[in-house]
Amino acid sequence: MTLKLSVVGCGYLGATHAACMSSLGFEVVGVDTDPRKVELLSRGELPFYEPGLDTLLEQEMKTGRLSFTTDFSAVADADVHFICVGTPQSKDGLAADLTYVKASVAAIAPYLKKGSLVVGKSTVPVGTAQALRAELSLSAPDADLAWNPEFLREGFAVEDTLTPNRLVVGVVNDRAEDILKEVYQPIIDLGTPWIRADLPTAELVKVAANSFLATKISFINAMAEVCEAAGGDVTVLAKAIGYDPRIGNRFLQAGIGFGGGCLPKDIRAFMARAEELGAKQALEFLREIDAINLRARQRVIDVVRDELSENLTSYTIAVLGAAFKPDSDDVRDSPALDIAAQLQAAGAKIIVHDPKAIENARLRFPALGFAESVHEAVKGADLILHLTEWREYREIDPSSLEALVKGKIIIDGRNALDRDKWRTAGWKFHALGRSN
Ligand code: UGA
Repeated sequence: MTLKLSVVGCGYLGATHAACMSSLGFEVVGVDTDPRKVELLSRGELPFYEPGLDTLLEQEMKTGRLSFTTDFSAVADADVHFICVGTPQSKDGLAADLTYVKASVAAIAPYLKKGSLVVGKSTVPVGTAQALRAELSLSAPDADLAWNPEFLREGFAVEDTLTPNRLVVGVVNDRAEDILKEVYQPIIDLGTPWIRADLPTAELVKVAANSFLATKISFINAMAEVCEAAGGDVTVLAKAIGYDPRIGNRFLQAGIGFGGGCLPKDIRAFMARAEELGAKQALEFLREIDAINLRARQRVIDVVRDELSENLTSYTIAVLGAAFKPDSDDVRDSPALDIAAQLQAAGAKIIVHDPKAIENARLRFPALGFAESVHEAVKGADLILHLTEWREYREIDPSSLEALVKGKIIIDGRNALDRDKWRTAGWKFHALGRSN
């Protein structure tokens, strides 16, 4: 008999997982405490922007296999329960806030039938799975718990779920592994590497991967700082070192650094957990990774001041991009919005444009100015900041903005624009890590 699945938490991760598992042929119920989210998803509409997921969701809702509810008792029928809730940074420190993970497991515990498997997908501090499994053995002794970290990137969520570059499962026994193999069989059949680990290793794989990615970005941003000081060009440097396959050219895009709901909070939570474990020194370097990352934001602000004035009160700045990266409407810890807010706090008038993230940006920073189009955003601007590398911005014809702006100055915070194109059109063009 085919397994039935439940997915607890229907944000970027959970909604994607639910729709993708339905597309593999499983009956899936998604549970979320937010009635607005559930209502939208039940109508086949996404509460956020994720390319390709909208059509997949619509298609899966029509099959009748996929449903969403706020009622936790709906999981009673399912054999496998995926925990996909958020683990944000806690309000009072670096550690991850596990409230939602703990609450989710507690909420489904009364409904777990004999032999069912709870599978954590959320990013958690190492040791969480073992503790949850011990708790579950008291509240639902007939159920088991495994950990199956998720590596999906926003913007590529469907692709990363259905064709991931590896599947990692943390299990305590063969039975749990067998159940997960049954769920993921179509993906395993594609030749996807399957890694069985113990619970702590599975949890660590996730934070280690994100820490490595963060380190790569901060490494190239540190090189950008040195390039600026020494008269070099970080884009050429990145290209040149990237040809060494041991280094690789991906994730070496210098600019205003990493943001989002994962990398920043994951490296901080990892440091906090290592300290608890008595391994603080091993992850001290992540403090520097974080510091380099935040410094990149400050460096853009410094260039703005150099170009305009120390006192920004009489200046208007157009900000292109609010999302933490392109192809997403996520503004959590967005470097672009942080820079916009800091410049506004320094007295500048800020007008932000983003193809998808304006609504979320407005909720977070209601006092910023917002524009529906690039042309509207740059009207009367003394300077343009390019802070999220949407394709739309790369396609701008610089001469089309000429009559609208007050000053023909652009700072490329993502090293993604065509410098020659802008300079040929008579613009003063700056980019992080490129001295000339
Ligand atoms: C990240 C990881 O890439 C996923 O593998 C992981 O599953 C996910 O976190 C998670 O933990 O859930 P995501 O947050 O969607 O995915 O975004 P990334 O594509 O990793 O980008 C993170 C940030 O780094 C963005 O702000 C991006 O603009 C920045 N970045 C990325 C750079 O500044 N330079 C680069 O070369 C690459």
